[in-house]
Amino acid sequence: MLRGNGLQHKRVIVVGGSSGIGLAVAEQAASQGAHVVIASSNHERIQRAIESVGGEAQGQVVDVSDERAVATFFSKLGTFDHLVFTAGDSLHLRNLATTDLQQARRAFELRYWAALAAVKYGSPHIRKEGSIVLTTGIAGQRPQKGWVIAASWHQYGLTQYLPESSGRTSGRT
Ligand SMILES: NC(=O)c1ccc[n+]([C@@H]2O[C@H](COP(=O)([O-])OP(=O)(O)OC[C@H]3O[C@@H](n4cnc5c(N)ncnc54)[C@H](OP(=O)(O)O)[C@@H]3O)[C@@H](O)[C@H]2O)c1
Repeated sequence: MLRGNGLQHKRVIVVGGSSGIGLAVAEQAASQGAHVVIASSNHERIQRAIESVGGEAQGQVVDVSDERAVATFFSKLGTFDHLVFTAGDSLHLRNLATTDLQQARRAFELRYWAALAAVKYGSPHIRKEGSIVLTTGIAGQRPQKGWVIAASWHQYGLTQYLPESSGRTSGRT
């Protein structure tokens, strides 16, 4: 992120901000003057992330695979400017012949349904000119052998739909 990019005093919610890409986003946003809220399912990891981010960063425990918990989380959060969703788990890598469809369904819980829940319950609280960023990877465009499920849950179509549906929020993957 570049200096002067408009994050000063903005409220940025990073779901999956306790590690990896989400933590890096939280650190960068805070360094640009944003008020960051780090959300993930693990209290201790959130506390470590808050120490790493510093400043006025806050934390909130939420299991985003639980729709009701997601709804409660956003209703208590109040208004904000930007939602960044980076929550993810281990990739489900199998070739099609050995893919267990029950396991494959579970692979969508966090990476698709939880992202959709965050969009559904979060977007009514986003201020004008706000944004939603979802995280995916190259699997959908350049899948490798055994990536049949990992290549299937890409949210690109969802982010194309967002600006039209809300009339005020941009969506990106
Ligand atoms: N890293 C890469 O090179 C790369 C490349 C392409 C795409 N991606 C994709 O980008 C996303 C993020 O990757 P990453 O490397 O940053 O992953 P990561 O370091 O494993 O971070 C995943 C985050 O999700 C949180 N999380 C997991 N289960 C959760 C739940 N039920 N509720 C709330 N939060 C939960 C974790 O926090 P807690 O454990 O504290 O809950 C953690 O903060 C993933 O979808 C990944 O596939 C990553």
